Amino acid sequence: MSGMVTASYIGASVLFILSLGGLSNQETARRGNLYGMIGMTLAVVATILSDQVGGYAWIAVAMLVGGAIGWSVASKVEMTAMPQLVAIMHSFVGLAAVLVGFANYLDPNVSMSGVEKTIHEAEIYIGVLIGAVTFTGSVIAFGKLQGVIGSKPLMLPGRHFVNAGIGIVCIWLGFVFVGAHGVNQGIVPLLIMTALAFGFGAHMVMAIGGADMPVVISMLNSYSGWAAAAAGFMLSNDLLIVTGALVGSSGAILSYIMCRAMNRNFFAVIMGGFGGGGTATAMAEDGEVQPVSADDVADMLLSSQSVVIVPGYGMAVAHAQHPVSELTQALRNRGIKVRFAIHPVAGRMPGHMNVLLAEAKVPYDIVLEMDEINEDLPNTDVVLVIGANDIVNPSALEDPEGPIAGMPVLEVWKAHTTVVLKRSMATGYAGVQNPLFFKDNTRMLFGDARESIDAVFKNI
Ligand code: TAP
Repeated sequence: MSGMVTASYIGASVLFILSLGGLSNQETARRGNLYGMIGMTLAVVATILSDQVGGYAWIAVAMLVGGAIGWSVASKVEMTAMPQLVAIMHSFVGLAAVLVGFANYLDPNVSMSGVEKTIHEAEIYIGVLIGAVTFTGSVIAFGKLQGVIGSKPLMLPGRHFVNAGIGIVCIWLGFVFVGAHGVNQGIVPLLIMTALAFGFGAHMVMAIGGADMPVVISMLNSYSGWAAAAAGFMLSNDLLIVTGALVGSSGAILSYIMCRAMNRNFFAVIMGGFGGGGTATAMAEDGEVQPVSADDVADMLLSSQSVVIVPGYGMAVAHAQHPVSELTQALRNRGIKVRFAIHPVAGRMPGHMNVLLAEAKVPYDIVLEMDEINEDLPNTDVVLVIGANDIVNPSALEDPEGPIAGMPVLEVWKAHTTVVLKRSMATGYAGVQNPLFFKDNTRMLFGDARESIDAVFKNI
């Protein structure tokens, strides 16, 4: 049986790698998902059948309850609430690592000595540490994404000293824990470190400003992978180590990509250095907005040769992707060049807009990344900004003191005319006013994005 289990673990690992490869491209994403599902089924079945596992009744109950909750939540969740769901899932991985660590440490059947014991206890300590930071960090990220906690960063005085102090105490407690004689002595430093790590995770994410949340999400994704890998070491499960390492490293790469996309330094982001220092500019000082009707927008589109559509979070909220796709098709049928411009942090999760556009069957070859299209915007007749705000905010480039200073944005104000579709003058996720709305060549089409697009489409 053990040979079969090992072979299944290798098969599942290969499927997970193929899955990650598939998910990196829109055309192959579905296949990537399928590989992941098959790999996970194989992994679960092989683990249950392995010699390490007993107590099948408990496992069956846990799988039934967990599966039912997962099924019901996932089938009901709105696409716009997906990032919160992912954040809360990460918190479960973190909590699982903490519980596995404590269960392992308190297990009376485990008896080790010498180097083996030291290594085992170091694994437990590190696993619980990463798990605890991941748990509270993810719970706070969930709260911020759900809007239960404000997106403004919490800037405690001397917060860097607090963080450094917690780090030093945790290292010292680690030595005390590994040097302890017996569980009764060791449990105290383990419990104190767990409480400190819970506090550190919460404080770290509380200190990060709204616009930097994408980096936090990918970072917690990475942490949850390392927490799973640590649990794999504690449970001596090779597949969990491999899977955790895959998630951990892919999350780390994603964090790096997000930081580059937002022109941020990773360490500055996790230290909470960005996103809260500046103040928003007063809207009234920026001038008058120029509202426009759907008929006028239709006329503008029909008399243009080149149109760029910038989708944002509001398109997801309005479920406007299908009408947008139909409008695109209608314009293309009339010989108008239509392209989509995707900002790397548009929406609320990596690839959010790409997923929506793929679902609405927008051809992949007209969906371009920010770097590919920014230079073309001055030659564009009309840019339609559909429910986007922060990602088209010129103050990122023009106001060095502002909360989103330095973040690259889609420079839509350079087009001949920009039409912004949104419901009101409200700010975006980062809570920053947007001078784009007051530019001479900007027109505002107020209303729900789906209704506005339907109204424009009727006149095409
Ligand atoms: P936002 O800046 O959040 O702006 C979205 C705009 O959509 C809002 O100003 C809102 O204005 C409008 N809107 C909402 N519902 C609408 C509806 N039904 N119809 C029409 N408009 C609607 O979005 P963005 O430009 O996509 O930027 C993303 C932001 O989220 C960035 O700050 C980014 O850092 C942050 N973030 C991103 C991620 C990832 S990984 N992508 C994760 C977390 C946070 P009205 O209320 O006036 O309609």
